[in-house]
Amino acid sequence: MKKIAVMTSGGDAPGLNACIRAVVRAGHYYSLEVVGVKRGFKGLIEKEFYPLSPRDVSLIINRGGTVLLSAREKRFHQYEFRKKAAENIREERIDCLFVIGGNGSFQGAYLLQKEFGIPVIGIPKTIDNDTYGTEYTIGFDTAVNNAVDAIDKIRDTSMSHERVFVVEVMGRDSGFIALSAGIASGADITLIPEYPFPMHVIVDTILQAQKRGKKFSIIVVAEGVASAKEIAEILTEKLKPYDFGGVRYSVLGYIQRGGSPTAYDRIVASRFGVFAVEQFVNGQTGIMVAMENGKVVSKPLGISFGKVKKPDLSDFELNNILTL
Ligand code: F6P
Repeated sequence: MKKIAVMTSGGDAPGLNACIRAVVRAGHYYSLEVVGVKRGFKGLIEKEFYPLSPRDVSLIINRGGTVLLSAREKRFHQYEFRKKAAENIREERIDCLFVIGGNGSFQGAYLLQKEFGIPVIGIPKTIDNDTYGTEYTIGFDTAVNNAVDAIDKIRDTSMSHERVFVVEVMGRDSGFIALSAGIASGADITLIPEYPFPMHVIVDTILQAQKRGKKFSIIVVAEGVASAKEIAEILTEKLKPYDFGGVRYSVLGYIQRGGSPTAYDRIVASRFGVFAVEQFVNGQTGIMVAMENGKVVSKPLGISFGKVKKPDLSDFELNNILTL
């Protein structure tokens, strides 16, 4: 009987549990033995493997976080620790390691295969949706919905007090969350690292809105651009001469990353997980699962790093058109 291992690595994302469940159940469906690795690459180094039956993954499809736990393991940058991990994987007689992770985790998995011949399959997750090679990563939809939910609430105060609100969302160096949350919440301005927006245009947009009789504004800023605090301080100065209820800011932070996954994330996670196992059953490893034109496909794992995935310029323009 062949044996597979599944782990989650890097920042948690809603939908990880749905994906773990899919890998475990598909594994058993195809008569594979399945083990879980606790705490991602840390667990590989410290040999934290444990068996997973289909029943062990009951009642987790709706839960955020990861039942396998996760970590950002810096030791994996060092050859000696990767070697240790590879030895542990061999001792456990693992035929393929399924890494549910983002860019950094895929690089770690790639090195395990390249340096030690450990068969691996990557399944993309990150709320940031910034993994190159796939249109979608597990967790993004939930994070955007969490952000939109929060912005909708902030808008109540923004409108009632005629204030300018700067709302900071996550995304590391990318603007996918900001752009989608900006469109979905009807933000007046969305600032993302990929398409810079000069400060004078921001001020002008707010003043133009005021001239049209709208005295409150919501600005969504991706953390990769600047902090909401910095932008709010600059705007406070620039808007001083004008009649506004003030500028406030809010950092949404980790509420974006937690909570029950949306139906979309559960469905994608389930599809990705089953597809990944089927690839292994068909003899494919060294690949990542990806979404392309809405379909689940496989690609060589190596293509996912060293390249930057950018949001569509048309979405950015759409946002600007809709703020009129
Ligand atoms: O990659 C997901 C993410 O939440 C980013 O949006 C954010 O910049 C980063 O992780 C924060 O990482 P950590 O929780 O390790 O500080």
